[in-house]
Amino acid sequence: MSGKVTKVVFPVAGMGSRFLPATKASPKEMMPVVDKPLIQYAVEEAVAAGMTDMIFITGRNKRAIEDHFDKAYEVETELAARGKEDLLKLVQGIIPKYVNCIYIRQAEPLGLGHAVLCARPVVGNEPFGVILADDLIDGEPPIMRQMAAVHERMQCSVLGVEEIPLEHSMRYGIIRPKALSGDLDEVVEIVEKPSPETSPSRIAVVGRYILTAEIFTHLEKLAPGSGGEIQLTDAIESLLQAERVVAYRFRGTRYDCGSKLGYLAATIAYGRKHPEIGKEFEELLEKLTH
Ligand code: G1P
Repeated sequence: MSGKVTKVVFPVAGMGSRFLPATKASPKEMMPVVDKPLIQYAVEEAVAAGMTDMIFITGRNKRAIEDHFDKAYEVETELAARGKEDLLKLVQGIIPKYVNCIYIRQAEPLGLGHAVLCARPVVGNEPFGVILADDLIDGEPPIMRQMAAVHERMQCSVLGVEEIPLEHSMRYGIIRPKALSGDLDEVVEIVEKPSPETSPSRIAVVGRYILTAEIFTHLEKLAPGSGGEIQLTDAIESLLQAERVVAYRFRGTRYDCGSKLGYLAATIAYGRKHPEIGKEFEELLEKLTH
């Protein structure tokens, strides 16, 4: 059933209402953490996992994402003319040449599940990754690479999970786990955004998935769920009845860049370890906080 995962879906059609007015005319996925947009971190993670086909599910106001991964003639000519070789290399090397970028428009914002279903004509019958760029995860090896290794071993769908405080259950898809081994659980049940009182556990799905193509059959049958949207979580719950799905507790630190505080935390963490400004930033933080 499952071979090597080469395709990855980035649902990027969301409105980013939590960051208005910053996201009024530009995509939330283009917000930078230090000097790189969130979507670039996500693409680099997929490339590090050996994935080669990047499928972006875009919507209105998302042109900047397409431009970011295209050749930028004006910028390159200008940098070359000014002899800025290092910056030129940086701009030209945003993605390796062998990587394909494919853009599909999601005409209406009908939910994460619907966005994933839009990728079906390109994904076909293979297992594929899904990365939500606003969950920025710092880990070594990069998280998708850890998950691809789990997928290769287990030959089934894999969800990236972490433990959250129970009072945050209404922000996530929450699983009922059955222990398999150290960092792996079998998913017995999954519920989208349950209340703390009804939550099956404190194990939440974060924005990393490897799914078998079977998910499309389940997505296509779904009625709108939580928030009136077609939920990926509901399709996974349905998939569970037919196939095994495992939850993997990744090694790494997640920053919820869909929230202001998470985004600021990411900026501090990535600023501190930035090769160019890390040391000075650390001193600046020291000064600002004493
Ligand atoms: C989505 C999913 C949810 C998942 C979360 C991870 O929710 O629907 O199951 O736990 O991403 O970030 P959203 O954050 O889009 O509301």
